[in-house]
Amino acid sequence: MATDDATSNVQHTVTPSTAEVSISSVMTEKRKFPPPADFALNAHVSSMAEYEKLYAAAEADPDAYWGGIAEKFHWFKKWDSVLEWNSPYAKWFKGGKTNICYNALDVHVNSWRKNKAAIIWEGEEGDERVLTYGELHRQVSKFANVLKIAGIKPGDRVAIYMGMVPELIIAVLACARVGAVHNVIFAGFSAHAITERVNDSRARMVICADGTRRRGGSINLKNIVDEAIVNTPSIRSVIVLKVTNEEVHMHNGMDHWWHDLMGLAADECEPAELDAEHPLFVLYTSGSTGKPKGILHTTAGYMIHAASSFKYVFDIKDEDIYFCTADVGWITGHTYMAYGPLLCGATMLMYEGAPNYPQWDRFWDIINRHKVTILYTAPTAIRAFIRAGNEWVTKHNLSSLRLLGTVGEPINPEAWMWYHKVVGQGRCPIVDTWWQTETGGIMVSPLPGATPTKPGTATRPLPGIAVDVVHKDGTPCVANEGGYLVIKKPWPSMLRTIYGDNDRYEKTYWSDFNDMYFTGDGARKDEDGYIWIMGRVDDVVNVSGHRLGTSEVESALVSHEAVAEAAVVSRPDELKGNALVAFVTLKDEYVGDMTLREALRNHVAKEIGPIAKPDEIRWAKGLPKTRSGKIMRRLLRELATSNEIKGDVTTLEDFGVLENLRDQEND
Ligand code: WT7
Repeated sequence: MATDDATSNVQHTVTPSTAEVSISSVMTEKRKFPPPADFALNAHVSSMAEYEKLYAAAEADPDAYWGGIAEKFHWFKKWDSVLEWNSPYAKWFKGGKTNICYNALDVHVNSWRKNKAAIIWEGEEGDERVLTYGELHRQVSKFANVLKIAGIKPGDRVAIYMGMVPELIIAVLACARVGAVHNVIFAGFSAHAITERVNDSRARMVICADGTRRRGGSINLKNIVDEAIVNTPSIRSVIVLKVTNEEVHMHNGMDHWWHDLMGLAADECEPAELDAEHPLFVLYTSGSTGKPKGILHTTAGYMIHAASSFKYVFDIKDEDIYFCTADVGWITGHTYMAYGPLLCGATMLMYEGAPNYPQWDRFWDIINRHKVTILYTAPTAIRAFIRAGNEWVTKHNLSSLRLLGTVGEPINPEAWMWYHKVVGQGRCPIVDTWWQTETGGIMVSPLPGATPTKPGTATRPLPGIAVDVVHKDGTPCVANEGGYLVIKKPWPSMLRTIYGDNDRYEKTYWSDFNDMYFTGDGARKDEDGYIWIMGRVDDVVNVSGHRLGTSEVESALVSHEAVAEAAVVSRPDELKGNALVAFVTLKDEYVGDMTLREALRNHVAKEIGPIAKPDEIRWAKGLPKTRSGKIMRRLLRELATSNEIKGDVTTLEDFGVLENLRDQEND
């Protein structure tokens, strides 16, 4: 029973108590949606009382809580201790030996699920493949043997660069089976981005595809890899999967076809018995300096949280068909496509292509044809669907859907209501899931059979997860006071370090608050203890659900011959969440015009990837700086958003600079 008639939206501003950062204003949202009774009846957790009981038990004895979950998995050897915490370094399930691939596949192959669909794949052109647990197990075992024959040993890093085909998940699981550390690089990234990630992780091998399909055309991935690995001394070999039949150059001795190697490999491969803390993967994410951070996750802790959070948040049942629209190149695809669903023996739908190909109803068409029951997507996609028009959605029968989810950025209440009414037809609970690449799995989310939801909040932390909103000095904020979102206790799927850089790990996450993990997000907790995320407090912006370091975009701009200096900020954007605005100072001999503007945008796309393209480029004679030379991005943000400056300018060195920026003509 929804109470959406009793709407009352009051705009107010919440600012953290130290005026050092200001976090965007939020809405007070009064609408509340209790879980539908029939949903609650059959849910894994079916009331708030049950949630509170679980939460309290986990808080009182975290070792017993996490140990209890871990016992449900297959271990070659049981652990000696649940957690050894040497702040900020965690060892979960020390002494235990397991294998996440074994738990994701062999466990099911040894059960009635052997012939159950694991992956239902749909290509952009409408082609379909179904891989049962048995078949996936066979393919993964074969490819694990390929890795072994190629000399890959436990602990070796393997880069993976391919589009959304089942072989991407096969490659990931095969790495896990032999103990190799996978480093998936999103197929939208440029050659430069691959080089940087391969070198930082000193990867030995690249697994790629010849190409990937995109909106009826294709992108040649192998050419990009060729360009990238000219400068990567650690790479010994490249395995190439045929997807698009692009013309590619196969280099003798270095490059091998996936199908040739698979043809030679046996289809049984004993899983490596790995330490609980054996590294599982490195996934790069933007930092506030130009260099991306290699987030390191390890085996057992990640495994148990990926599986249990998937089970409870998505209330997964064997009958479900779960559709996650993320790419495996991001953490969402790692945890809630490659691992979580398979560890739970679920059936997932994997779609290769764009949401608007051949037209804007592709997702809804897929949901209708495959009778999808759970949809997990991003607010940025939802906003794009709203813009495209309701008729694309309503012309399809979506009655199979029973649960909806979102991830990646705050969802604005109006988009939430649209998702609820138009997609969910008022019937489906929505789980707004807050988490990060670093947290490995969902931290804050409704449990769909228990938690009453409110549009725009990820609600309460999962059992075992100790999040809080605090002041700069670490003391808790009162209800509705804006502050910093921290995590007060270690959790199993936490990042273990930044690959090869413990100093940066300590500095980035553990130096702002005493013995608490700082998420980088601003937030407030309302009177029900619900967490409202107010965005990032540093210079990292979230564009279309992807976190981008503005300084990375700046370095890309400055690497263009015409650019002297650049500052990139974000302004709110209806469609993408945030839009990137670049203030660019040109070298004297260059003139700022439309042609150069396009050239710079394309340059950024080539250096980082199309998602980092600035939406707007403004020419600046100079940038506002402090006396110590720090660019005052806060002022630029104000300019980009409202074209005027209201904030404090006392530390500004040269006032003339601001006048120029305000008065300039933008062609
Ligand atoms: C940042 C993490 C987790 C996978 C996708 C992004 C923002 C994420 C939510 C949400 C409000 C959210 C936060 C967070 N974020 N989910 N449900 N509500 N904000 O992973 O690239 O590591 O980014 O995304 O700012 O810190 P990521």
